[in-house]
Amino acid sequence: MKQTYINELKDKIGEEVTLKGWLYNSRSSGKLVFPQLRDGTGIVQCVIFKGNVSEEVFENAKSLGQESSLIVHGTVKEDARSAIGVEIDVTDLEVVQNASDYPITPKEHGTEFLMDNRHLWIRSKKQHAVLRVRHTIIKAVRDFFDERGFILADTPIFTPAACEGTTTLFEVDYFGDDTAYLTQSGQLYNEATAAAFGKSYAFGPTFRAEKSKTRRHLTEFWMVEPEVAFARLADMMDLGEEMILYIVQRVLQDRKDELETLERDLSVLENIKPNFPRIHYDKAVEMLQEGHTKGELENKFEWGGDFGSPDETYLSNQFGQPVFVHHFPAEIKAFYFARDPERTEMALGIDLLAPEGYGEIIGGGERATDLEFLEEQIEKHNLPKESFEWYLDLRRYGSVPHAGFGMGIERCVTWMCGIEHVRETIPFPRMLYRLKP
Ligand code: 4AD
Ligand code: MG
Repeated sequence: MKQTYINELKDKIGEEVTLKGWLYNSRSSGKLVFPQLRDGTGIVQCVIFKGNVSEEVFENAKSLGQESSLIVHGTVKEDARSAIGVEIDVTDLEVVQNASDYPITPKEHGTEFLMDNRHLWIRSKKQHAVLRVRHTIIKAVRDFFDERGFILADTPIFTPAACEGTTTLFEVDYFGDDTAYLTQSGQLYNEATAAAFGKSYAFGPTFRAEKSKTRRHLTEFWMVEPEVAFARLADMMDLGEEMILYIVQRVLQDRKDELETLERDLSVLENIKPNFPRIHYDKAVEMLQEGHTKGELENKFEWGGDFGSPDETYLSNQFGQPVFVHHFPAEIKAFYFARDPERTEMALGIDLLAPEGYGEIIGGGERATDLEFLEEQIEKHNLPKESFEWYLDLRRYGSVPHAGFGMGIERCVTWMCGIEHVRETIPFPRMLYRLKP
């Protein structure tokens, strides 16, 4: 008999079905066993009545361990008490494997233990919900750019040089001849594809040897990076805002159940509205200093510094909406930024800070177009010029204003789900002290 999935059951009331999955939980009383079956699309309660099945099936059912793999045959019955509106009246049960001593039990476990068992932990309800939201965000992001005529042009993972500064590079031996680095961002290559296609985006894994152990940092994360020829700074704020609104709508539309499982306050997401505030770095500094004067921020923020996580939280709390900060001191930014012609010490960068203290989720800006200026910057940042010759070609042949940004998928998922730590938003996180499983 053809396999039915649990998320199809509500349309099959009264029908005979075959379900395949794993035992989530079970209880029994006298002549009844109530195994809960999960199959990846949902969880359904099955009812095994002693009189309806063979003696052997009934005895087997009582002794099944958590996560045993099963094939269940039965009839779909409407049930008002069930979260999915149905339960299964079992007529037969095949045990594929009777598992025993599954390490993750319904009791509380510590995070380290769960992280060590991440390969099993992803079967749990909450983790399952988070990863489904991730799937939907990725799909939304791709739809968003595809619908707007962007060409997906993925960029290499092995790269000969740094994009985002040399302090967070992972070095790899490349056949003994050359040193390669795992990419920190596809941006430099996106600039080439944008000059080829006008509008392009890359979506892939990126790597940062981040020595910081925070709730926002992974060493391997997925970034979506659009790049647009002839676009300026303000265009990127428009595009970033439109993308975020699109993602929020899609998640609210397709993942309400998952957000409920996660006890996410939906009203916060429903309130995300167009016209995100856009503030100049100078203004942000003023607000942070005011926060310090009022005693709401411990450290006094000095002009020229980079925002720490309390600063980002403070700024976003002033608005309750995602907020763009634009124009940063060039000193704290990468070599490739265009400058404000009126104040050349300012880089044309943007950061989008998510509300509720989730911090920076988008970083980007307008790129420098002038060949000589970039040559100077490459030297000033101590970067090996020969590795950037191809990049400089983009300024030699048809240089145009252009801009782009990157959004870390995991930061976005963390915020949408309203969870504490970025480590739960990727199936197998890589962090400072975490390379396993
Ligand atoms: O601000 P970042 O470093 O910008 C760039 O890499 C640009 N080259 C992107 C571009 O313009 N094409 O990183 C962009 C985003 C951040 O806003 C954040 O969402 C995410 O990538 N991110 C991280 N996410 C998880 N763990 C980390 N260690 C991250 N570092 C950056
Ligand atoms: Mg950044």
